[in-house]
Amino acid sequence: MYESFFNLACSPFQNTPNPRFFYETEQHREALAKLEYTVRNRRGFALITGEIGSGKTTLIRTLMRRLGSDARIAIVNNTRVSSEQLLRLICQELGVEVGPEKDKSVLIAQIKRFVEHQAAVGRNVVIIIDEGQCLSIDEFEEIRLLTNLESETEKLVQLLILGQPELRNTLRHPRLAPLIQRICMYCHLQPMGFTDMTRYIAFRLVRAGKGRPNVDFSREALQMIYQYTKGIPRLVNLCCDNALLAGYSNDTKLIDSGIVRRAISQMMPNFEGQMTDIVEEWPVQNQEIEDGRRI
Ligand SMILES: Nc1ncnc2c1ncn2[C@@H]1O[C@H](COP(=O)(O)OP(=O)(O)O)[C@@H](O)[C@H]1O
Ligand SMILES: [Mg+2]
Repeated sequence: MYESFFNLACSPFQNTPNPRFFYETEQHREALAKLEYTVRNRRGFALITGEIGSGKTTLIRTLMRRLGSDARIAIVNNTRVSSEQLLRLICQELGVEVGPEKDKSVLIAQIKRFVEHQAAVGRNVVIIIDEGQCLSIDEFEEIRLLTNLESETEKLVQLLILGQPELRNTLRHPRLAPLIQRICMYCHLQPMGFTDMTRYIAFRLVRAGKGRPNVDFSREALQMIYQYTKGIPRLVNLCCDNALLAGYSNDTKLIDSGIVRRAISQMMPNFEGQMTDIVEEWPVQNQEIEDGRRI
């Protein structure tokens, strides 16, 4: 709603893993290059961990776009499923047709046939597990068996596992040692530093701009955003989106610390106020929503 006010073509800080808005910090660039290398050179397994909102899913979406039709990709992010459902999900993602049979070995055989065929025509098969911290040890073993396929020189299925840091605890289990030993690339995504964060904000504004965006963030405003978000992209997006909205409401194109303070005070995880204050504010908020303005 504030886009035209700031000369923007679209919303710059949407929290979606859109590769068009992918900003390459040094660590994101390195992680992406390593993932691409793992897949293209059929090196086997790669593991990426990072706090919630650090950019794991965005990284994977960008990789998928880069690989394009060179790879057949199954992305599994609903990891709270039975192992049979997991296999079915992988079949569905890869486009392997399966009947209603309950026997897991039949499903595995079908996937293997598919993988061998893809290898014969020179295409990579990649299984991506997002939100891997939700997977059980049994499910990881199941996936490992699936990815056992290899020729004399290379792995036929590449497995990329992403998850929150606690995923490392699951993977430490002795039963998963064969899986761990095959991980040829590991990387932990850190939150952005201050300089990266300011460049990230500028990059997204330019990407969304109709020509040059008509908005400025003061240094104090950026410092406040950094202090609040600790450089976690998802929170930076949320904070900047709210700050632009507050700027628009105040009819100003300069986002200063006062505007950011206002934006932060209106963001959801702000439990510092008393509960009674929040309840008292409800009628006002509802009124504003009815007026078509967001809080
Ligand atoms: N490198 C990046 N470039 C641009 N936007 C990013 C980047 N990393 C994260 N984001 C933004 O932050 C949001 C949260 O990132 P996401 O990839 O969903 O994190 P995770 O999967 O680690 O929880 C995304 O919706 C995206 O808009
Ligand atoms: Mg994610």
